[in-house]
Amino acid sequence: MERIFSDDVEENEVNREVLLRPSDFSEYIGQKRVVQNIDVMVESAKLRNQSMDHVLLSGPPGLGKTSLAMIIAKALGSELHVISGPAIEKKGDLAALLTNLGPRDVLFIDEIHRMHISVEEILYSAMEDYRLDIVIGDGAAARTMQIEIAPFTLIGATTRAGLLSNPLRDRFMAQFHFDFYTPEELSMIISNNAKKLKIDIEVEAMLKMARCSRGTPRIANRILRRVRDFAVVRKSNTVSVDDVNHSLDMMEIDENGLDRMDRKILTVISEYYSGGPVGIEALSATLSEDKNTIEDVYEPFLLKEGFLLRTPRGREISDKTREILEN
Ligand SMILES: Nc1ncnc2c1ncn2[C@@H]1O[C@H](COP(=O)(O)OP(=O)(O)O)[C@@H](O)[C@H]1O
Ligand SMILES: [Mg+2]
Repeated sequence: MERIFSDDVEENEVNREVLLRPSDFSEYIGQKRVVQNIDVMVESAKLRNQSMDHVLLSGPPGLGKTSLAMIIAKALGSELHVISGPAIEKKGDLAALLTNLGPRDVLFIDEIHRMHISVEEILYSAMEDYRLDIVIGDGAAARTMQIEIAPFTLIGATTRAGLLSNPLRDRFMAQFHFDFYTPEELSMIISNNAKKLKIDIEVEAMLKMARCSRGTPRIANRILRRVRDFAVVRKSNTVSVDDVNHSLDMMEIDENGLDRMDRKILTVISEYYSGGPVGIEALSATLSEDKNTIEDVYEPFLLKEGFLLRTPRGREISDKTREILEN
């Protein structure tokens, strides 16, 4: 079966996530460059009284792409329509969706890189000219029918912009890549969300959570909820560093913020491949893990933090990783 590599594990967290979702730009921490650019685009669209340009948001899961799309629609005062790329099975489904859009509506397509190519083609003229080119019949009798649609804004989200086909990528006027968050930004998010959940946390405890969140707000929230549960059961009024350490232990997250799968990847490279280099295909086979999941979900953080190195001959572990694994 095909692995769906976006937010599967978190699927059942979606409802609980709603409370912690930033509701406007003021609650949206970090990603300053992206937010500044988007802010100008939103204001301009409002002043022109036209639809905003299409935007592509790329980056690892849990960094705030969906949240930002929701905030954009709200700031525009536009209706938001949400769909996941792989869920659109037929051209007709997408055509129906597009013809139902009102002027200046926002269509958010998550995992847009996983849309079927025949479906994707419908988007080209829709994005460029707000028009659908539909082929009716086949063979010599085939005719193209054109249908006008309302001027709309497409926001696409993907784990990697490089996975999109060129014609689709080129039609996004603005493209933004999401970076991992700093511990300070994550602390701020944790602090805001602790207030929403009505829990009191020591500053040091918050920093510890932030440092172990893999630079990812979704993981920070997940840790926060576990810590909350632990504090509730222990009947403690204020969450301490000890409470956090205990929760992190239970979640199998280590001092460096690495989880079980991160450590498994590094250990496999170290033990099976003498530290590397090893190609992604071989690594994926040894780990029995989908290649795209490794590349999109796990590797970006390991690369950024220098646990993993990418060379022309494959992946290697760093000296820093050797030290950790020896201990
Ligand atoms: N910039 C941010 N500020 C505050 N919270 C954030 C931010 N980005 C993400 N989050 C939190 O992380 C959760 C996951 O973000 P989401 O937008 O679903 O990520 P993505 O769509 O990139 O996978 C959100 O529900 C929200 O609580
Ligand atoms: Mg998302």
